[in-house]
Amino acid sequence: MPLTTLEKVYADANEKYYAIGQFNVNNLELAQAALQAAAELNSPIIMAASTNAIKYAGLETLTAIIRIAAESTSVPVILHLDHGTDLDDIKSCITAGFTSVMIDASHHPLDENIRLTREAADYAHAHNVTVEAELGRLGGIEDDVSVSEKDALLTDPDEAERFVEESKCDALAVAVGTSHGAYKFKGDAKIDFERIRTIKGRLGIPLVLHGASGVPQELTAKITQYGGSIPGAKGVPDDAYRTAVKCGINKINIDTDLRLAFTAALRQVLSEHPEAFDPRKLLGPARDAVKDIIKQKMKLFGSADRA
Ligand code: G3H
Ligand code: 13P
Ligand code: ZN
Repeated sequence: MPLTTLEKVYADANEKYYAIGQFNVNNLELAQAALQAAAELNSPIIMAASTNAIKYAGLETLTAIIRIAAESTSVPVILHLDHGTDLDDIKSCITAGFTSVMIDASHHPLDENIRLTREAADYAHAHNVTVEAELGRLGGIEDDVSVSEKDALLTDPDEAERFVEESKCDALAVAVGTSHGAYKFKGDAKIDFERIRTIKGRLGIPLVLHGASGVPQELTAKITQYGGSIPGAKGVPDDAYRTAVKCGINKINIDTDLRLAFTAALRQVLSEHPEAFDPRKLLGPARDAVKDIIKQKMKLFGSADRA
């Protein structure tokens, strides 16, 4: 079916307490992996392009790949801008055909974050596009961080209430202890679930968990086995997804895990088939590995069979 908007998908997830996965896509293989996973599990899917992905693949090309591929599936596919920085990003993506956007002005002071988000929301809503915004700073909660330092980084429920009211965003990305990339936690994973529950209780709107990759040990071990090196990598444990969803998270962003799955499979095939030089023989297994990890996430997030 044609690309769809997030509104109805969010409403269902918000009512029934499950999350839709956002999977970041940079090229043909990642796009195919994501769509195949969604089709096989009958799950809605959010396919996202970051501003760096757009620079890498080209806005028109990446949009065309996803739009045309989505047309041949029967599940809802949302094309979302990840971490848009300003109104120009939002406008160009909406013009290209994106059905959802994120404006990330979280590094600005609160008033400026509200102003920039409101500007993006007014434009996006006039084009029937949903807007995600971010409040707080993504980063790990270290043991030696004081309560006041922690509160300064993580999303404040009072500020969140004012932010959503004034900015008119449709969904809010919250800072609750996760961070982007493969090195999220030094010791045990620390995620402030109570904060999610409180914010959800106050706002009622869909909440988004960024920096949510699990960094599965079997993938990092495989990368190491075939010559890679990413010591100390650590991510969000599976049971944390279930708890986060119960507390009110409705969208979970995954990029790093796709990169890890892709790299592990690619390293394996390069190592085991030194004679191979057909890109399809190298990238095919990487695509399949990405599809598998996306399917695992969809089951964990509760979006399977919700299409
Ligand atoms: O939030 C960060 C995403 O993983 C996108 O990363 O800017 O390298 O495409 P990227
Ligand atoms: P990860 O780096 O944990 O995959 O997070 C991705 C993300 O938040 C994209 O917006
Ligand atoms: Zn993010």
